[in-house]
Amino acid sequence: MQKLIFATNNRHKTEEIRSVLKGRFNIITLAEAGIDIDIPEPFDTLEENAKEKAITIYKLTGISCFGEDTGLETHALNGEPGVKSARYAGEERDFTANMEKLLNKLRGKADRTARFRTVISLILEGIEYQFEGICEGQIAEAPRGEKGFGYDPVFVPLRSNRTFAEMSMAEKNQYSHRGKAVERFVQFLIKI
Ligand code: IMP
Repeated sequence: MQKLIFATNNRHKTEEIRSVLKGRFNIITLAEAGIDIDIPEPFDTLEENAKEKAITIYKLTGISCFGEDTGLETHALNGEPGVKSARYAGEERDFTANMEKLLNKLRGKADRTARFRTVISLILEGIEYQFEGICEGQIAEAPRGEKGFGYDPVFVPLRSNRTFAEMSMAEKNQYSHRGKAVERFVQFLIKI
């Protein structure tokens, strides 16, 4: 089975991606590969950050790998928090503080439409390929649910009335940006 390193330290993302892949590829985490680094996200686009994550690990290991970067984009705030989603309320990357800042900035706004966008950068034998996944939805008035991570308690995908944090991982994957990007990446890997 093809071995791929996933350039992340986020265990939620790893669990979600493994659940979509259903054992079709052997995904190795950074911890499992014995790599202990804080992966950089220095750029202003998801595309560049995803590539930077994958290239950093490829240069260290020489093993095919992928990185991903995700942003939450709200219409009323001109795409905020976007590529800055992780550090929206400060360098501590605090999920609760980030959600509170977003809810405060959206207070009183009629338009609560938003979307999650994920970009996966795959480095296969030194060549880069990218895959995008988008999930359209709305920002809830207040956080709901205990599951998931990040902004999940305030994001309600289109055609649902529950937040991602109120869904099982399998159900979130059916709607989610990451689920869609991973499906594209799998179809590509199956074809080549
Ligand atoms: P990054 O891709 O790790 O930089 O994530 C950017 C920010 O978006 C972080 O605050 C994450 O917690 C959050 N985030 C990324 N993916 C998701 C998701 O699927 N649900 C909710 N929040 C997410």
